[in-house]
Amino acid sequence: MLVISSENGGIGLPAAMAALRGGGSAVDAVEAGIRCVESNAADHSVGVGGLPNLLGVVEVDASIMEGATLRAGAVAAVRGYEHPISIARQVMERLPYVLLVGEGAELFAAECGFPRARLETDECLAMWREQLQRILSADQYLKLVRREGLIEATDALVEQSKRGHGTTNLIAVDAQGHIAAGVSTSGLGLKYPGRVGDSPLIGAGNYADDRYGAATCTGYGEMAIRAATARSLVLYMKMGMSLVEAGMEAMRDLRHVGVPWPRGMNLIAVDKDGHHWGASSREGNVYLYMTEDMAEPARAPRVHVPLEG
Ligand code: GLY
Repeated sequence: MLVISSENGGIGLPAAMAALRGGGSAVDAVEAGIRCVESNAADHSVGVGGLPNLLGVVEVDASIMEGATLRAGAVAAVRGYEHPISIARQVMERLPYVLLVGEGAELFAAECGFPRARLETDECLAMWREQLQRILSADQYLKLVRREGLIEATDALVEQSKRGHGTTNLIAVDAQGHIAAGVSTSGLGLKYPGRVGDSPLIGAGNYADDRYGAATCTGYGEMAIRAATARSLVLYMKMGMSLVEAGMEAMRDLRHVGVPWPRGMNLIAVDKDGHHWGASSREGNVYLYMTEDMAEPARAPRVHVPLEG
């Protein structure tokens, strides 16, 4: 049994491993682990305390995929719910769909009985206000307060490359060897309302197939969408590449995606034999892993794959 996550997902790996040790499935482990990160208000890239959009509202996205069946569920641009990963799982299990967005996803969450929650903490609202005031002119800021000039504000933020992004992801392999993968995020900080990144898009930020392995992304979501990064990595393994070769190829694909901001992508992946691997376009990044014989998660270096040039 194995669970791996992005560095900020380490807080959830013991819960994920406990789910597996208790006889839970890989899907159970992914949900249990990611819920811990979503509740962590100190993490400003996921769930409670996430960085708000341009108008000061936290909108969250998540997806989950079951490698045994290729079933998947996802939600995007959801407001007011702490655990989008659990809503995504319910989409997978209770609806004949993969993705619900916005108001419809919130209606579904209410129907499933999920409690409403306030995701905008005082700390994240203070960060939001400080960033807007620092980056935008006084006129641009006042327009935003009137819900005007959002395109102009987006342009200003692109030019100054000041926006943060972050996400959590987790891949689990259960006692039966089944694989599941999940991703959860509040998306790009200061995003245009309704902007959706790679995290809830199956094939872009998340993919799992028991026959070959799984991959999940964190980073600049538009890049992973345009290169179909998670599915590409798994497909490269299907075509005969090793986990490392497939991961390197999926990262190198991103060099061909032209973007207005500095490039950034991080992958974690497993193959069908339980090997794990991570890569990052930034030097010095790590991911975390835990097997059934470990008392706590350990860090593993991500291979550095520069995307510039
Ligand atoms: N990778 C998360 C996002 O771009 O929204």
